[in-house]
Amino acid sequence: MARCADIPASFEKDLVTFINLTKMVNYKDLGLVNTREMFAKAIKGGYAIPAFNFNNMEQLQAIIKAAAETKSPVILQVSKGARNYANATLLRYMAEGAVEYAKELGWEHPQIVLHLDHGDSFELCKSCVDSGFSSVMIDGSHLPYEENVALTKKVVEYAHQYDVTVEGELGVLAGVEDEVSADHHTYTNPEEVIDFATRTGCDSLAISIGTSHGAYKFKPEQCTRDPKTGRLVPPPLAFDVLDAVMEKLPGFPIVLHGSSSVPQEYVDIINANGGKLPDAIGIPEEELRKAAKSAVCKINIDSDSRLAMTAAVRKVFNEKPQEFDPRKYLGPARDEMEKLYKHKIINVLGSEGKAE
Ligand code: G3H
Ligand code: 13P
Ligand code: ZN
Repeated sequence: MARCADIPASFEKDLVTFINLTKMVNYKDLGLVNTREMFAKAIKGGYAIPAFNFNNMEQLQAIIKAAAETKSPVILQVSKGARNYANATLLRYMAEGAVEYAKELGWEHPQIVLHLDHGDSFELCKSCVDSGFSSVMIDGSHLPYEENVALTKKVVEYAHQYDVTVEGELGVLAGVEDEVSADHHTYTNPEEVIDFATRTGCDSLAISIGTSHGAYKFKPEQCTRDPKTGRLVPPPLAFDVLDAVMEKLPGFPIVLHGSSSVPQEYVDIINANGGKLPDAIGIPEEELRKAAKSAVCKINIDSDSRLAMTAAVRKVFNEKPQEFDPRKYLGPARDEMEKLYKHKIINVLGSEGKAE
């Protein structure tokens, strides 16, 4: 702001603060909710809330339709990359629209969270809090422990002023975490969780127990082969680490990232229609069902939706090469994603009917 000689500097500072405050949007005004009550109910009820990533309208429509029709609480998850891709302002209005769309679909009291996935700085988290997100993740898992504590605490102190809930992370997942990449995972150290949760004041904690991001969660040499189907069978998750964390922090909300199952039907459709996804492998659904019954109350799924979308689009392109109306291939992609989301809600996470 240009300085005006007649205005005292202190007044000018207040004016700038006031202007910034008037630009802020609180999630409550958009009809969104934070995760606090949702997680408490999920832990008590032995189910998990789906956290589905979205980048575009078709994904958002499919998520909202699936959640509304099953009356499942849902977390709309936005990464830094998604925010850059879709435009931050547009995304915020899309989330506002999503609440109205859910009501239009007959979901009288939608329970929808707008969550920042893998926030990598205080500034990004602040920008999300200020623009209507109801929950943010600050991912300091790649930092030295004390730096992770300090950064997470700073975000919590800011976010809690607006009743926005905060997810922290301890332990490193293998694979690519948006701006953060790691070749090898480091399981969460259960000895650190009490100190981390207490000193940061975070509302939930993402832990590392062997899941990872993307469609290649395990190398073939880590897997065995099912003699009947010839499919790769991954090694089990480290449930002993989860149990130890739950013992240290009884009833504390735990989050699992990298929880796509990489449905082989989609991989087969993609490969049969010009794609190339050799040895893609995910987390078996039985393991996620087991996790959902524990203190794991948020399960992150992105890759499965990407696979569903890609499979449907490739099939149309291959079978109808004359087609060029995007609605003719994005429509089937949207239907396939809706089917996938409903399947997760009903058959894997158990969150159906928990937001009547
Ligand atoms: O954890 C990563 C999510 O799948 C988001 O991925 O950064 O490519 O949007 P992205
Ligand atoms: P997937 O890649 O397994 O879908 O994990 C998504 C995720 O953890 C987003 O934060
Ligand atoms: Zn993640």
